[in-house]
Amino acid sequence: MWVRNAWYVAGWSHELEPGKVAARLVIEQPLALYRKTDGEVVVLEDRCCHRFAPLSMGRVEQDDLRCMYHGLKFAPDGRCVEIPGQKLIPQSAFVRRYPAVERGGWIWVWMGEEALAQPASIPDSVRLDDPAYRMRSSQMDYAAHYLLIDDNLLDLSHLSFAHEKTLGLDMPQWADERPRILPLERGLRVQRWLRGQPARSFMKRWGEALDLWNSYDFLFPGIFLLRTAFYPAGTAERCKLAAPAEAPLFLRYDDQAVTPMSHRTSRYFYAAGARSADIDPDRLDRLFATVEAAFNEDKAIIEAQQKLIDLDPARRMLPTSLDAGPTQFRRLVQTLLERDGEPGPAAAARAG
Ligand code: FES
Ligand SMILES: [Fe+2]
Repeated sequence: MWVRNAWYVAGWSHELEPGKVAARLVIEQPLALYRKTDGEVVVLEDRCCHRFAPLSMGRVEQDDLRCMYHGLKFAPDGRCVEIPGQKLIPQSAFVRRYPAVERGGWIWVWMGEEALAQPASIPDSVRLDDPAYRMRSSQMDYAAHYLLIDDNLLDLSHLSFAHEKTLGLDMPQWADERPRILPLERGLRVQRWLRGQPARSFMKRWGEALDLWNSYDFLFPGIFLLRTAFYPAGTAERCKLAAPAEAPLFLRYDDQAVTPMSHRTSRYFYAAGARSADIDPDRLDRLFATVEAAFNEDKAIIEAQQKLIDLDPARRMLPTSLDAGPTQFRRLVQTLLERDGEPGPAAAARAG
């Protein structure tokens, strides 16, 4: 019940040290990640074909990976190239290789058919190694199905309540006004103006209240590329609530990715920041502290929600006009599941 033909974020570049092997679980597939001598990331199935020991407990030998149970050695393409004490290597001695791309600090892995992997279809996030930007990044694990986290990111009305003391402080408009939602090929574009919002800290120099243009693309499986642009109060009216063409006072970048590990575990990757010219390291620290406090609020409520769903999985939820984004996205997930030949309308609908 997983969409396989998709790029998933497997981790951050800095997590993968040369000579080390990292274990990851993505859509219930165990993966072993390591770097070749030239730095290129290799992703192999984390299950030795001999007796199923994890290759992530193995040893990197130049470009190859040796299983440290009985010593079979695998090349970066997954082929077994050595069996200790045996000359003949059977055709069936290989582990699956997954296409991987490292870009700007993010490691992406393609979980589907190898021939369909198109690096060009990887969403364009801020490159964390680009000196033009000052970004901080981190991650947290959820005991919840990934679609519950996607729901949360597709309906920012929760900022006024779940984050009433952090991101949504004194901002009832998040819940009171509906965004514009546009379909994308593998996701949704969600946009809205929030007029006359209280200016925080350093932004007070532009007035007590500012207009915010909040726009994001949300792409399967949970890639969230948010841009929040701050304008002088009155800009939204002047733009007739359309997308602004003029340069903002301040532009903030939030790039995130939700990766399903299993049906009840997900990893949430997030990066936040601004152009280096617009933010200093102290301010970025403060911004990031608020972001992390808010994400812990999300985690607490979503994990509690997951527990209640599991107590009574057949119980129907009550749809409201707040749910337009989550509902449309789940429909898209269903289409992708059907395209991948995977069964189960119940899977998407009930986060099963
Ligand atoms: S399990 Fe890997 S070599 Fe035996
Ligand atoms: Fe949130």
